[in-house]
Amino acid sequence: MRDLLAALDALEAEAAAALAAADESGLEALRVRFLGRRGALTAILRGLGELPPEARPVVGQQANAVKAAIEGLLQARRAALRTAAVAGLASDRLDASLPGRPPRLGGLHPLTATLRDILEIFASLGFVVAEGPEVELDYYNFEALNIPKDHPARDMQDTFYITDDVVLRTHTSPVQVRVMEAEPPPIRVVVPGRVYRRDADVTHSPMFHQVEGLLVDEGVTFADLKGTLSAFVRLCFGEGTRLRFRPSFFPFTEPSAEVDISCVICRGAGCRVCKQGGWLEILGAGMVDPEVFRFVGYDSERYTGFAFGMGVERIAMLRYGVDDIRLFFENDLRFLEQFHAL
Ligand code: DAH
Repeated sequence: MRDLLAALDALEAEAAAALAAADESGLEALRVRFLGRRGALTAILRGLGELPPEARPVVGQQANAVKAAIEGLLQARRAALRTAAVAGLASDRLDASLPGRPPRLGGLHPLTATLRDILEIFASLGFVVAEGPEVELDYYNFEALNIPKDHPARDMQDTFYITDDVVLRTHTSPVQVRVMEAEPPPIRVVVPGRVYRRDADVTHSPMFHQVEGLLVDEGVTFADLKGTLSAFVRLCFGEGTRLRFRPSFFPFTEPSAEVDISCVICRGAGCRVCKQGGWLEILGAGMVDPEVFRFVGYDSERYTGFAFGMGVERIAMLRYGVDDIRLFFENDLRFLEQFHAL
């Protein structure tokens, strides 16, 4: 009798350990192994007949208790595995019928769109793109453009100096000199790029963009300059836009002019943007000064040319009615998303 009771205890312990480690697919095999008709419990009960009659009920009762315990463990394990499986499903639930999330599409920055339009217009007029360094020698930024040492533009207040001889370029005009040094006439280039000045308010940013233009050949006149810029203004701001050339001064052009266009907001009637004047200044221009030709070794008796320079931010502000230049650089999506159709 002792042997049988001990075997029953051992069976219960074995079943408990096996069930604790079982997964759902193993449960039925364990039930058969311990409780089945040919299982371990049945095997033990086979020895019952050899016991004296008074011992049988004791072992029988114990066998029933072990059977009930193993059945209880089986059920509990099954329930625990179910609960865990359901929790797993809920946590990585996937509803394949939900509509997808459309990817967010980016768009061109308004300055990029404006710059591309400007370059495309000049490409259609036969200009090719040239570029130059943003960290520039004083020689190219000032000296070779006939800007003398005592010129106010050289003041530390306007220019970022790196050393006495090296600056962050204050305009794209130095690329004129680099292009002319590198090749003989005829020249027909536009030069996009970043420029730097110590200046910051609603219409000035310490870094901004310019597009420079340079055309040099035999027989180029101020009429060619007017024709080229008139075509540009109409293509950029619309057919009805008028323009006027105001006499001005730049050290590297003679004669020089500033070009105004009729206000794009009020069409010349007078408004806040044009300060009631009806005109907006958009660029500087002129005939290349013979002194600049002397610096690059061009024969100023044989060649003439014109140059112009414009601010990309200024043109973008006018085209899109933006009244604070800083908006272009803050990367606020609420601002940028308004230009996504460009
Ligand atoms: N470089 C001048 C500026 O930054 C703009 C300019 C004026 C460029 C006249 C030119 C020019 O090529 O001819 O203010």
